[in-house]
Amino acid sequence: MTKTITETHGYNTRAVHAGRKPNELTGAVVEPIWQCSVYAQPYPGEFKYDYGRSMNPSYYPVEETLASLENGKHAAVVSSGVAAMTAVMSNLKSGDKIIMPTDVYGGTYRLFKQFFEKFGLEYAQIDLTDLDQVEKELKKHPQMLFLESPTNPLLTIYDLSALGELARKYGVLTVIDNTFASPYFQNPLDLGIDVVIHSASKYLGGHSDIVGGAIITNDKEYRDQMDFYRKAIGLHADPFTIFLLRRGIKTLPLRMERCEKNAFAMARYLESHPKVEKVLYPGLPSHPQHELAAKQMSGFSGMFSVFFKFTIEQSKKLISSFELITLAESLGAVETLVEHPATMTHQKIPAEVRKKHGLTDGLIRFSAGIEDSEDLIADIEKALAAVK
Ligand SMILES: Cc1ncc(COP(=O)(O)O)c(C=O)c1O
Repeated sequence: MTKTITETHGYNTRAVHAGRKPNELTGAVVEPIWQCSVYAQPYPGEFKYDYGRSMNPSYYPVEETLASLENGKHAAVVSSGVAAMTAVMSNLKSGDKIIMPTDVYGGTYRLFKQFFEKFGLEYAQIDLTDLDQVEKELKKHPQMLFLESPTNPLLTIYDLSALGELARKYGVLTVIDNTFASPYFQNPLDLGIDVVIHSASKYLGGHSDIVGGAIITNDKEYRDQMDFYRKAIGLHADPFTIFLLRRGIKTLPLRMERCEKNAFAMARYLESHPKVEKVLYPGLPSHPQHELAAKQMSGFSGMFSVFFKFTIEQSKKLISSFELITLAESLGAVETLVEHPATMTHQKIPAEVRKKHGLTDGLIRFSAGIEDSEDLIADIEKALAAVK
């Protein structure tokens, strides 16, 4: 017998069981990998599945899990976080306007400004902590307010309830990239945001072994539109990725707790280090929006950034001197990762724009993994000593 999982079940239970049922044919406890591109039809046009670019049988169970973990009704899995953004942006048309923050993931900036702009989409990049400025832009009838919170890499927190309410007043769709917080620590739909997207390549997968994405909403029609774009522009996720994603999600709560604990330990250590100018971690009282983060998130996640008193060369020396912490672009993994936004994830942003937005040469971003914090701190201590 299989128990129906509802929103009344605890988060850990939902992470393991939501959307899961033993395979009807074999009783296998784990969903199989449906490695199939095409499906037989008993009669022309009569089918449950037709072609792998539209749908795969393994999408439904994991979509149910993702919807449950975001406290949403509907989800769509796609091939990457960028594919999730592409699907969302494809719903707009030439001349439509988007409000976005000054501080977003470099790939988002590249997709919006260097790709969609050429199809006639217009952007207002503004400070979303300034609600008066947001309202002024909303009065210009944009079609979308795009958010990231906490942002990448400056860990800025936006007031999701206030922004959701304001956008609703002007009939503007709100979309948030919730990758940094993960659905374990933040559920934006509960705060009045319309659409949540994730790079499943990060915390959801959790093991640096997949590239995937997801879109979650309470609006069935919107979800069906995402389905259409997945099929029409080829944003489908491959079956093996879906298998690994579902496996990774089972331990999401455990990993998130541990990543947060390690982020706290490293951030506290670095905060009092003489080579550090400032640590940005929403969990620390020194973070300018610590109280807002505590209000709208159930935890502070594993991401933090540090302004070192370093030149670009010293920054590069530090991040290449770690022995345990891995120098890599991604985040949200079991391994602690480090990167240098100015020369890695955000290098596509013009230098003057980077400077204007505070992405300095000494800024280094950490993604806490699940190792022992003592080992991580020892690694940081040794690497810092190597920078002269
Ligand atoms: C916050 C954030 N959103 C989206 C993405 C893009 O996701 P993907 O690499 O799965 O396309 C990234 C990738 O680093 C990211 O950091």
